[in-house]
Amino acid sequence: MKLLVTGGAGYVGSVCAARLSEAGHEVVVVDDLSTGHADAVPDGCRFIEADLAEAADGLLTEGFDGVLHFAAKSLVGESMEHPAKYWQGNVVTTLRLLEAMREHRVSRLVFSSTAAVYGQPEAIPIPESAPTRPTNTYGATKLAMDHAITSYATAHGMAATSLRYFNVAGAYGPYGERHVVETHLIPIVLQVALGQREQVQIFGDDWPTQDGTCVRDYIHVADLAEAHLRALDRAQPGQHRIYNLGNGTGFTVKQVIDTCREVTGHPIPARVASPREGDPASLVASSEYAQRQLEWQPQRAELDTIVQHAWAFARARIA
Ligand code: UFG
Repeated sequence: MKLLVTGGAGYVGSVCAARLSEAGHEVVVVDDLSTGHADAVPDGCRFIEADLAEAADGLLTEGFDGVLHFAAKSLVGESMEHPAKYWQGNVVTTLRLLEAMREHRVSRLVFSSTAAVYGQPEAIPIPESAPTRPTNTYGATKLAMDHAITSYATAHGMAATSLRYFNVAGAYGPYGERHVVETHLIPIVLQVALGQREQVQIFGDDWPTQDGTCVRDYIHVADLAEAHLRALDRAQPGQHRIYNLGNGTGFTVKQVIDTCREVTGHPIPARVASPREGDPASLVASSEYAQRQLEWQPQRAELDTIVQHAWAFARARIA
C-alpha cells in the first residue's frame, strides 16, 4: 500500500514508519518537526516537512491507500496550561485531514488515541467499554477525534481504527524516545543513569497501590507498531474499531526505577516529591479485544526487555 504517515519523525511514528517500510509498503512521512527529528525518519521513507493542517489537502491529491495519523501534541501538563494548542493541533488539524481524506477518497485510517480518554478508571484492567471521562485536555482532544472518526466511518465508509496506547516505552534499533522536554518516566530515569540528571523524583508515594507509587502498563513500541500493521490490514469499510493496547500488567514507579537500576548497574538516586496533578493511581489495559480481533500478542512484554532496549538506544545516542 502507499501510506501517508503523519508525525513519522516522532517516537511512535518513526518506529511505525520503519516497520511499515520493512513490510514492503511505500511510506511518505509528513512532519512539521515541532517535536520530531528529521534524522528519525527511517531510510526508504519519503519525507515532507510541512504543517499538516495546511498541507493535508495538497498531499492527498497524489493518491494514497491509507493514512496513519500520529502527528499530535501529547504532553498532559502542557495541555492543561495551553489548551488552544491542543484543540488546534489535535482537533482542527485532524478534522482537516479527515476532510482531505474524504475529498480524495482515501478510506483507510489508523489513529493514535490514548488511555488518557478514560480518566480515573472505575476498574482495572480497563476495557474499551469503560466510561470515557478524560481528566485532561490532551485526553479530551483525542476522545473528540475518536468520535469524529466514528462519524466519518458511518457517513463516508471510512475503514478506521483508533488505537488507545497505554505507556509506550522501549526502542526499535535506532528509533526511540528523544523528546526535547522529557516528561516520561523511563527516559528520565535513564538520564540519571547517564549522568544527565542528578536524581529522579517520584510523584507521590501515598497512592492506593502496592507500594504507594503509581501503577502503569508499559508496552514496547515495537509491539505497538505490530498492532498498527494488523489494524491497517483488517480495517473494514464503514467501521471504526477502537482497541486498547497494553500488556495487561502494571508496574509501580518504584518497580520501574528498580528495573532501571538492574539494567544499567547505576544506583539511580530517587526522592519522593508531591503527586503530579491529574495523575490516576493505576492505569492497566485490557487488550483482550485487540488480541482477539487483530490476532496480536505482545512479544516483548517483560519490563526488563523494554528497559534494556530503551537503555541501548539512550547509550547509542550519546556515544
Ligand atoms: N513519574 C514520576 N516521576 C517522573 C515522571 C513520571 O514519578 O519524573 C510517574 C508519573 O507520576 C506516572 C508514571 O511515572 O505515575 C508514568 O508517567 P509518564 O509521564 O511516563 O506517563 P503517564 O502515565 O503520565 O502518561 C503516558 C503518556 C500519555 C498517555 C498516558 C496513558 O505520556 O500521553 O501515558 O497511560 F495518555
